[in-house]
Amino acid sequence: MKLTIPENIQKIKPYTPGKTQEELEREYGICNSIKIASNENPASPSPAIVRAITDALAGINRYSDAACHDLSVAIAAKYGVEKEEIVVGNGSNEIIDFLVKAFVEKGDEVITSHPSFLMYQKFVQVRGGINHIIPLQERGHDLNAIMDRINERTRLIFIDNPNNPMGSAIAPRDLYIFLSSVAEHVIVVIDEAYADFMEEELRPDAASLIRNTERRCPVVFMRTFSKAYGLAGLRVGYGIMNRDLAACLHKVRQPFNVNTLAQAGAIAALKEEERYQQIVQKNRQGISYLRDAFAALGCISYPSQGNFVFVDVKRDADRLYEALLHKGIIIRSMRAYGFPTSIRVTVGTELENIRFVEMFEKCLGESGYGSH
Ligand SMILES: Cc1ncc(COP(=O)(O)O)c(C=O)c1O
Repeated sequence: MKLTIPENIQKIKPYTPGKTQEELEREYGICNSIKIASNENPASPSPAIVRAITDALAGINRYSDAACHDLSVAIAAKYGVEKEEIVVGNGSNEIIDFLVKAFVEKGDEVITSHPSFLMYQKFVQVRGGINHIIPLQERGHDLNAIMDRINERTRLIFIDNPNNPMGSAIAPRDLYIFLSSVAEHVIVVIDEAYADFMEEELRPDAASLIRNTERRCPVVFMRTFSKAYGLAGLRVGYGIMNRDLAACLHKVRQPFNVNTLAQAGAIAALKEEERYQQIVQKNRQGISYLRDAFAALGCISYPSQGNFVFVDVKRDADRLYEALLHKGIIIRSMRAYGFPTSIRVTVGTELENIRFVEMFEKCLGESGYGSH
């Protein structure tokens, strides 16, 4: 086989998803493992969501609704916007893909932060675009440095708010000031994958920001059903944006990008307001529980507006990750993100959190482990 792999594709490091429980159990010969590594929701879908998905099964001989009509109407109602201002994707990952496909050509520039969600940069590489990566400052996006990086080739800026993996959020006032100063030819994408967990007063007003773009940059908000709504395996996310922008994204997507079951599950999940509030509440309790435990064990954790905690364990994070795997617990080491002594832990169920803390404490105390 004589294959020429384009240089930009050669350079892409594949995204490494967290280890699955099945993989761990197979490799280590254990059972009852827990995974608190990928910021998923620990709660299984409610009976009503399962029923909606099962009912939809009977129709999967047909293609899915290409327009995602009912789901777009439901999402639009939630935000007080029009359905034409919504684009639904196969996870919010796909919205990132659409944005880059539609607006980035070879040599165009995109600004992202580090650490942050890794997929922004990979999609840019696929298009032969140039990534400018701005380090976080004091665990938050450095909006001044981002602003200084903008030039006439800049097409997109991706800002995850809250930031993954730090859990920090931008004060709305700072965000508004930033958005009012960004050049008009640049699209600012606010990735709100974790915004459901955020304190309400920190949430920017998407409806007004996507619309009032007279002499201001366009703004896109991205949301997902993978986190607070607990549907990561179904793959549904969406963007909220000005209708002209939405029309561009519809041009670059395949017609049936969101499958029938995913649409049915997401519509059912949106109806369960009480469940959603409980999940958000439980998450807050989980964050406090984990942070208290980390403090009691002499580790430094940071406030989080997401469903995960970033913690400096002051020890080799990869070794701690390995030690926890042996106890059936999957977390994320932050070494690959440039933080060799830090880990990220997703909030689990109450029982999972308790078990994690017990095992974490054990690992710290085990002989041969625990020093730098
Ligand atoms: C900041 C951020 N954005 C987007 C995503 C992608 O979510 P989805 O499952 O909707 O593709 C994630 C997933 O972990 C994330 O952390």
